[in-house]
Amino acid sequence: MTDGSTEFDSATTAPAIIPRHIAIVMDGNGRWARRRAQPRSFGHRAGQKAVRTTVEYCLRHGVGVLTLFAFSSENWKRPDAEVGALMELFLKALDKEIDELHKNEVRVRFLGQLSAFSEALRTRMHAAALRTAGNARLTLNVCVSYGGRWDIAQAARRAAEAAVAGELDAATIDEAVLAPFLCLADVPPPDLLIRTGGERRISNFLLWQLAYAELYFTDTLWPDMDAAQLDHALDDYARRERRFGCVPDPVTARAS
Ligand code: IPE
Ligand code: IPE
Ligand code: MG
Repeated sequence: MTDGSTEFDSATTAPAIIPRHIAIVMDGNGRWARRRAQPRSFGHRAGQKAVRTTVEYCLRHGVGVLTLFAFSSENWKRPDAEVGALMELFLKALDKEIDELHKNEVRVRFLGQLSAFSEALRTRMHAAALRTAGNARLTLNVCVSYGGRWDIAQAARRAAEAAVAGELDAATIDEAVLAPFLCLADVPPPDLLIRTGGERRISNFLLWQLAYAELYFTDTLWPDMDAAQLDHALDDYARRERRFGCVPDPVTARAS
């Protein structure tokens, strides 16, 4: 774990190992706005630019999957005015960004309890997903009204329904049987989780899928996230040794 302030110089060094899948908890919009004596919604609007920067970065570096935590199942508890401003922003952002995303061959999907959203927003999300479904350069998963516990619960419910329908023997349910019912089942799990905004927690993001992700925390507030900060995260990731419960390498394995 790091605060991201390494010596990495993006002009001279390129990260050697590129994660296939990056997941991001985009945190710190409210504090960014408060520091400027502005309402929290001002920070959320500023955060949109960082999303654009991050998508462009992933396209440039050949990252295949980007999963963004945009609104958690717990964020509904925020004041009505802030939730309303966020919904308005999602609608506008979808209209504004979708042409460019499509042009860049980005496949966009929305994950979460979408039934909680207004008809207008659901229609827009559905249309954006449909329009970009055939794109293959980058998959952009936007988690909205998403919670890791919700995800596991909905997977368990759907598996139970399949068992009741006779499509599945309940006695055979194990990790491999449950996995296809979870969100993101069709892409590799996140290699790297980035959380901006200084907090060192998961906040009910992808609880199942993050089992072996490398975690990277930075104090940078989300609206300040830029290519240089992403370079720091990827450079840090490139230096990690991922063991997945095994021993470091065959030589070490033989020695012990
Ligand atoms: C993240 O920024 C965006 C959402 C949760 C929608 P915050 O709004 O949580 O910003 P801070 O953490 O209060 O600064
Ligand atoms: C996590 O941030 C959710 C998103 C970034 C969408 P929060 O700001 O909601 O998380 P907590 O409350 O600090 O744990
Ligand atoms: Mg926050």
